[in-house]
Amino acid sequence: MAMIEPLAAPTRSSDAHNGHAVTVRQQNFSVDYTFPVVFCTGIFDPENTALVDTLRRLEPDRRHKVLIFADAGILAARPSLADEIARYAARHAAHIELVTAPVPVTGGEGIKAGLEKIVEMQQFMVEHHIDRHSYVIAIGGGAVLDAVGLAAATAHRGIRHIRIPTTVLSQNDSGVGVKNGVNLFDSKNFFGTFVPPFAVFNDYDFIESLPDREKRSGIAEAVKVALIRDGEFFNWLETALDDLARFEPKAMAYMIRRCAELHMRQIGQGGDPFEFGTARPLDFGHWAAHRLEMLTEFSVRHGEAVAIGIALDTEYAVLAGLLPAEDNERVRAVLLGLGFSLWHPMLEQERDGQNVLLDGLREFREHLGGELTITLIEALGVGLEVHEINAEKMIQAVANLKSRAGA
Ligand SMILES: NC(=O)c1ccc[n+]([C@@H]2O[C@H](COP(=O)([O-])OP(=O)(O)OC[C@H]3O[C@@H](n4cnc5c(N)ncnc54)[C@H](O)[C@@H]3O)[C@@H](O)[C@H]2O)c1
Ligand SMILES: [Zn+2]
Repeated sequence: MAMIEPLAAPTRSSDAHNGHAVTVRQQNFSVDYTFPVVFCTGIFDPENTALVDTLRRLEPDRRHKVLIFADAGILAARPSLADEIARYAARHAAHIELVTAPVPVTGGEGIKAGLEKIVEMQQFMVEHHIDRHSYVIAIGGGAVLDAVGLAAATAHRGIRHIRIPTTVLSQNDSGVGVKNGVNLFDSKNFFGTFVPPFAVFNDYDFIESLPDREKRSGIAEAVKVALIRDGEFFNWLETALDDLARFEPKAMAYMIRRCAELHMRQIGQGGDPFEFGTARPLDFGHWAAHRLEMLTEFSVRHGEAVAIGIALDTEYAVLAGLLPAEDNERVRAVLLGLGFSLWHPMLEQERDGQNVLLDGLREFREHLGGELTITLIEALGVGLEVHEINAEKMIQAVANLKSRAGA
């Protein structure tokens, strides 16, 4: 019979806590997360074994149950998708048991309106006996990935989840991250978890059916991450500007891959994948962007707001003496060249004599837990964290954006 190890001596034992005996035992373990991010085309081409190989990664001989939720937007844009998936599953039937045809789910922010859709998806999981060895796959934009990811993470305390992002933003940014969530109590992403996916497949073919506005919007995240992390990548964005502005597929593919890699590096090696600290280095340009999205009731797309947020914070960095003016010109040239507008009237909206945008800084501070940390840049490719923003200079930065836009 196995012996049970005697418990180790308490790490600390003291009766100094107001006369109460207190014993502390330090629990300590770490969990290693590894997941592939695959960049490809033709994910459901039966000859392409990338997906089935991934399903077999842990249990190569097993037949794996797979439940797919697909963004209604992508199903409409690519009517053949359900058939392509059925053919793929049939070809690899030894290892894939598709429990049902892809289940259509609302695309965009609608799927994140509270918990209703989460529960609906989990009912599907129950109906099809999805267990912790099965796979739940999400195909769609960032909103669908966030919602399906949450449903999978909280069913049976976590079902293997594979993401197949179909927008530029979800391929180069949100899809390779470790967060999920839906909106609740009027608060964006209030209800969510940090749970890394089992795998991510960035299939560039999906990008083609996106409206130009969505394609452009996602490129803002590449400009963002280049500016804070990779000057070389920023130089490349400058040289590839014309190709990117017309969404030439090869340039788009490289932009997506490099941007995703830089996000992965920050999350994997930045030291704080689950965001316990207050620093959000990947949120350059985002404090103003989030505010602008709210003020315009999301009529401005996230990336469009990020482009304005980048332009604003870059303008501010010059006024604060942190960045040479000529670097600001280069940032503006890239953003304008991509077709972004760098001004919105809501930036100067006032309430009770106060600039409403600047109120966003207070909110951001609260969201971070008290201490304000804003990422700016001190060179093209070099981020800088600051803990204070000078309101007058920020108002001046807003005024500069306005006059430069001729508004
Ligand atoms: N989890 C994270 O770390 C993280 C990070 C950033 C953003 N997000 C979230 O991502 C969401 C935004 O994602 P998004 O920008 O990908 O947009 P989206 O998910 O809102 O999708 C935009 C629209 O495009 C449609 N669509 C998707 N793919 C398509 C395709 N290939 N062809 C045609 N139409 C298609 C969708 O149906 C939808 O109507 C927000 O909810 C945001 O909070 C999450
Ligand atoms: Zn963003």
